[in-house]
This record gives sequence, C-alpha cells and structure tokens, in this order.
Amino acid sequence: MAQPLIITLDGPAGAGKSTTARKVAERLGYQHVDSGAMYRVVTLAAIQNLVPYTNEALGQLAGKIRIRFEPSFGGQRVLLDTVDVTEQIRSAQVTANVSEVSSFHNVRNAMVQLQREYGLNGGVVMDGRDIGSVVFPFAQIKMFLSADLEVRAQRRAAELAAGGNSVETSEMIEALDKRDKYDSEREESPLIKPEGSIEIDTTNLTIDEQVEAILEIVRKYQQTYDMITAFGDI
Ligand code: DC
Repeated sequence: MAQPLIITLDGPAGAGKSTTARKVAERLGYQHVDSGAMYRVVTLAAIQNLVPYTNEALGQLAGKIRIRFEPSFGGQRVLLDTVDVTEQIRSAQVTANVSEVSSFHNVRNAMVQLQREYGLNGGVVMDGRDIGSVVFPFAQIKMFLSADLEVRAQRRAAELAAGGNSVETSEMIEALDKRDKYDSEREESPLIKPEGSIEIDTTNLTIDEQVEAILEIVRKYQQTYDMITAFGDI
C-alpha cells in the first residue's frame, strides 16, 4: 500500500515549479500547495490595507488573514478570506513587492506554520523557495528545479503574452534576476538547493518531461519502501 508522501519542489522563478507540482499532484491524487501564492496573498492584503512594511505589522496581517486553496474545474483557486484573488495575486504590483514582503521573519513564521499544517497527513506536493530546506527538511522526496535565466525569462514573457500582456524578454531577464538575487541573498530562509534534494535542470525539458522525471523518482521510492516493508526481516 503506497504511503502518502511529502514532495517538495524548490527553485528560482520561472523554473516551472508550480505547473510541474500541480501536474505531479494531479497524477498522484495529492494536494498541490503553491507556497509562493501564499506570500502573494499576504502581499496583496498589505497593499490593499496600506500596511507598513515592518516585521510587526506584516506579521500581524499574515496571522490574521485566511488563505485558502479551493479546488475548481479550471485549476485551483486562491482565496483571501472569502474573496477569490487567483488573478490579482499575479499582478505586476504584487510581483514587484512579494520578495520584500516575504523576507520578514514574522511573515515567514506564519506561512511556515500553515504550510506544515497542509503536510500533516502527507499526500502533498508543495513548491516554493524553502520547502525542502526549512518547511519540510525531512520530506521523503525533495526536488530542486533550475533553468537558465534566459529560458526562464522567455517562459515568463510567453505566459504574460498569453494573458494579453507583452513584456520584452530583456526586461523579464532583469526582473527575474533581481528577484532571484533578493530571494537567494536574504537572511531569512534564502533560496538554496536543499540538502539531499535531487536537481533537475529544466532548460531543455518540457513540463511533461519534468513531470515524468519526478514521477519516476516517486515510483522508485515507493518500490524501495514496499520492498523494505515486505521483507523487513531478511
Ligand atoms: O513562486 P512565486 O514566484 O509565486 O513566489 C513569489 C515570491 O514569494 C518569491 O519571489 C519569493 C517568495 N517565496 C518565498 O519566499 N518562499 C516560498 N516558499 C515561496 C515563495
């Protein structure tokens, strides 16, 4: 009997983490938790309520709001209290502010607590920056997704273009580079390759290939686990 696992996916922006995590979760019948979306919700709430960017004020806000993921037909919806903010949290304003908001200790504390609650019974695929290093350092399967900056920028620009917003790839390279630096150099839970994680360079891979690569790792893990539990006394 397959045990419900915790699978973590970390990496820089545009490496394909969220889409990959969603598809892996679908295939396994697991819950997908996009932790970046959680920091985006806090950022949106801070902007809407004109909350000053201090550890106390943002921490209080992060502890007060309700963040929920709701399954829906066209993919998961993200709720701030009772309001569906799935599209709003992807706005340029939220994107420009989220790295700073997510760097505050009290904000991270509140989010990590929520993220651990999601993982209580296993059966979860969570993507972010510190999931395999801080949130679930003992997760059974820890992945690190990387890709060349230019390719990541092209992917993000294409995503935006599909939504009717055109951005030059050169502008996107600059924006992603800035965000990566901020996320990797901050004091609190910086983006790192978690100890014991398996790295996949997605530069030349399609999403389906990434998904298959992770599912293969999961299958191997489950087979090893089944073998050990079946022949434990050899
Ligand atoms: O994955 P994303 O681009 O939606 O994430 C938005 C920001 O949230 C990212 O720039 C850094 C922050 N983040 C974080 O600090 N820790 C996480 N586990 C996930 C995201």
